[in-house]
Amino acid sequence: MPGAPFLEGDSVDLCTIEKDDAEFLTEALNDPEVRVPLGIAEPKNETQHEEWIEEQVSSDEGFNLLVVADDEPVGVINSNWLSERHGHAVMSAWLASDAQGQGYGADATSTFIDFLIDERRMETVRAEAFAFNERSNAMLQSIGMERVGTIPNWAFVDGEHHDSHIYAVTADQWRNRN
Ligand SMILES: CC(C)(COP(=O)(O)OP(=O)(O)OC[C@H]1O[C@@H](n2cnc3c(N)ncnc32)[C@H](O)[C@@H]1OP(=O)(O)O)[C@@H](O)C(=O)NCCC(=O)NCCS
Repeated sequence: MPGAPFLEGDSVDLCTIEKDDAEFLTEALNDPEVRVPLGIAEPKNETQHEEWIEEQVSSDEGFNLLVVADDEPVGVINSNWLSERHGHAVMSAWLASDAQGQGYGADATSTFIDFLIDERRMETVRAEAFAFNERSNAMLQSIGMERVGTIPNWAFVDGEHHDSHIYAVTADQWRNRN
């Protein structure tokens, strides 16, 4: 049973991450379809995910939420790098492989950006997607984020270096998007 719903999207809820979610995280995040596009090449077991929940999620720094569809955990969305002073946040998201391509990513990301801008007073929200990650690039563009640049050779995946695209949106752009 997922934690408390904190934000409500059209098709997903963004809920608190609880200790019991370590099992879901372990299964989903070791899956190459999830970890490779995220650039993760370290196996992590349930104990390590429990520690992440205890140390990172339970700290006062940043925001980590479980993406929940039909009462089942399907992914995580977070911003662990944000500045209240400057009003900027860097966010990222992932979904378990069987939950991808159903609109959950776009819904979760839009809902989270609404929160960062309308509740946390962020002026700019930033995200990043490896150039080969067609789905992530398409999802970020589909919700109205603008590609503002590219970092060459940022990621080493599958034997070679890949560019990474940077996306950003200001509060005004977000509120006035189509
Ligand atoms: C990236 C991710 C979060 C996207 O979420 P998602 O639920 O799969 O994406 P959505 O179903 O919401 O798709 C959003 C848009 O992208 C489009 N899209 C989806 N897959 C696509 C693909 N392979 N190629 C092109 N466009 C694609 C959809 O058509 C949709 O556009 P539309 O609203 O204009 O129709 C999810 O796929 C994921 O977690 N992938 C693995 C980890 C990852 O890459 N995380 C992001 C790291 S930066």
